Amino acid sequence: MNYKLIDMPVHGDKRGKLVAIEALKDIPFEIKRVYYMFDTLPNESRGFHAHKDLEQIIIAMDGACRFILDDGERREQVLLNRPDVGLYIGKNMWREMHDFSYGCKLVVLASEHYDEKEYIRNYDEFLKGLKNND
Ligand code: TYD
Repeated sequence: MNYKLIDMPVHGDKRGKLVAIEALKDIPFEIKRVYYMFDTLPNESRGFHAHKDLEQIIIAMDGACRFILDDGERREQVLLNRPDVGLYIGKNMWREMHDFSYGCKLVVLASEHYDEKEYIRNYDEFLKGLKNND
């Protein structure tokens, strides 16, 4: 499975906590894009796609969300609910986001600019693409 949870370096003192994320040091790619999701709703799922050439780190800055990650052979679930843990998702991984808590805020660091052509939004196409890669 091409995903992992990464503990982010936390600098904390009596004033609170701070996390600084440096490209190619704390995460394995250069950051070309940052986006975030907010005003999410528990009954609205998102994602349902894979990327051919994109790596991402997703952090739940506030609240929680359940991820489904699928490499075409296995499906695993990850609960993202900490602002000091990043979910790294590599190439060719199907992802779904479910069960957002009210007010959940997800920030995403991405290795490439936005390119809709690079998305695989159909699960059968995703599986076919994996076979063609073999
Ligand atoms: P979408 O890919 O549907 O979000 P999800 O990650 O939940 O599947 O994106 C929602 C909309 O935002 C869609 O119209 C595309 C647009 N969008 C951008 O313009 N730039 C971006 O970097 C992203 C991630 C999405």
